[in-house]
Amino acid sequence: MTTVYVFNGPNLNLLGVRKPEVYGTTVLADVEALCATAAAGHGLELDFRQTNHEGTLVDWIQEAGAAVVRGEALGLVLNAAAYTHTSVALHDAIEGAQLPTVEVHISNVHGREEFRHHSYVSPVAAGIVVGFGVDGYALAIDGLVRKLRPVRSA
Ligand code: DQA
Repeated sequence: MTTVYVFNGPNLNLLGVRKPEVYGTTVLADVEALCATAAAGHGLELDFRQTNHEGTLVDWIQEAGAAVVRGEALGLVLNAAAYTHTSVALHDAIEGAQLPTVEVHISNVHGREEFRHHSYVSPVAAGIVVGFGVDGYALAIDGLVRKLRPVRSA
């Protein structure tokens, strides 16, 4: 079965507790369940992870890229959280792995502080889903599938 990866960056383990007025009250386990449903709807297996460490995300991106090359995985949905705005390493990892990646943010980062407006991930992303709350994860999985497995009627 083909895998779709969903990686979450720093502080997303605190989803539901941290700033609920911005990120909502849904916890990360519920996001995983939501992603599992979305993945299963496309016949995909979900590999869902969270880390607070930048280098771990780099390792995981390289691992996911290798799985895509082997034909075992479709791509990645990535909420890199604060590393989105700081990490050249994540930019280079995605680019280097040629990993089809959809960037997702729960909140509308463009309506927030200026430092959240720039993303090192966006230039190497296949698409971006921003501001739809945790539903953005399901939208990102759907978008990744539609982009990589286009269904066009004859
Ligand atoms: C976030 C937005 C980031 O700016 C922030 O650092 C996060 C979460 C989001 O999902 O809205 O931790 O990626």
